Amino acid sequence: MPDTENETVPGGTDVPALRFENVVKKFGENVVLNDLNFDVRKGERVTLIGPSGSGKTTILRLVMTLEELTGGFIYVDGKPLTHELRDGRRVERRPKDVAKMTTMIGMVFQQFNLFPNMSVLENITEAPVHVLGKSKEEADRRARELLDLVGLGDKADAHPTRLSGGQQQRVAIARALAMDPEILLLDEVTSALDPELVGEVLTVLRDIARNTDITMLIVTHEMQFAAEVSNRVLMFDGGRIIEEASPDVMFSDPKQQRTKDFLQAVL
Ligand SMILES: Nc1ncnc2c1ncn2[C@@H]1O[C@H](COP(=O)(O)OP(=O)(O)OP(=O)(O)O)[C@@H](O)[C@H]1O
Ligand SMILES: [Mg+2]
Repeated sequence: MPDTENETVPGGTDVPALRFENVVKKFGENVVLNDLNFDVRKGERVTLIGPSGSGKTTILRLVMTLEELTGGFIYVDGKPLTHELRDGRRVERRPKDVAKMTTMIGMVFQQFNLFPNMSVLENITEAPVHVLGKSKEEADRRARELLDLVGLGDKADAHPTRLSGGQQQRVAIARALAMDPEILLLDEVTSALDPELVGEVLTVLRDIARNTDITMLIVTHEMQFAAEVSNRVLMFDGGRIIEEASPDVMFSDPKQQRTKDFLQAVL
């Protein structure tokens, strides 16, 4: 395993790909994220771990702008995502500006979330055509490349409902990549799969991690996978990061008792 502490991040620059600054997220009275601060460097792969309900999915959904920030700021590539400081006041950005920012972010969900009324190819080309304004031809060409990449070159015309869970998830990965995102968010993407289908999805993700410098924020219970692809692991509890380390340190020699207990339970 590389010494991730001293490794330069591929394509790394000073502006982080993602910055959480004093982020607060409440659902009613429930404070899920409590003054959260962390950066993800460009090209870095960060895995979030922590007990159920600790806010891992919420973090990804905030970046995807599927949840509203209660307080603080999120920056993508140095630019404010949904809120910014203007004349010392925290204000919401215009929906048009937010929409532009979200084209830089792709997310793959536990439950695939493919459009059931569209073919595999249409699932992948929909957003590039309608959001990015790509031509149908260009979007089709790129979609077929991506289907080859995820090992589904022969499934372009299939309907998602006729595919296995592993195949559906690989389509969802291709769909996210079709937007050429700078950041890829992966939320327990193998948790809904039969055990024998987990491997094919992780293989695709390993290849993407190896062959691209896309920034990744990963939530997974597959600790072996996390150890292989991540530069850094963040342990969450009580709405905050309680420990962060390279995967080899986190998984073999965590410092906090809470982390030890959690890892003992999941490993
Ligand atoms: N839409 C919502 N409305 C109200 N509460 C919510 C909503 N979404 C999440 N929560 C609450 O926020 C907290 C964090 O949830 P979240 O799904 O982010 O946790 P998680 O770390 O992803 O958990 P898991 O490992 O089980 O997926 C939980 O207490 C949850 O009940
Ligand atoms: Mg979750």
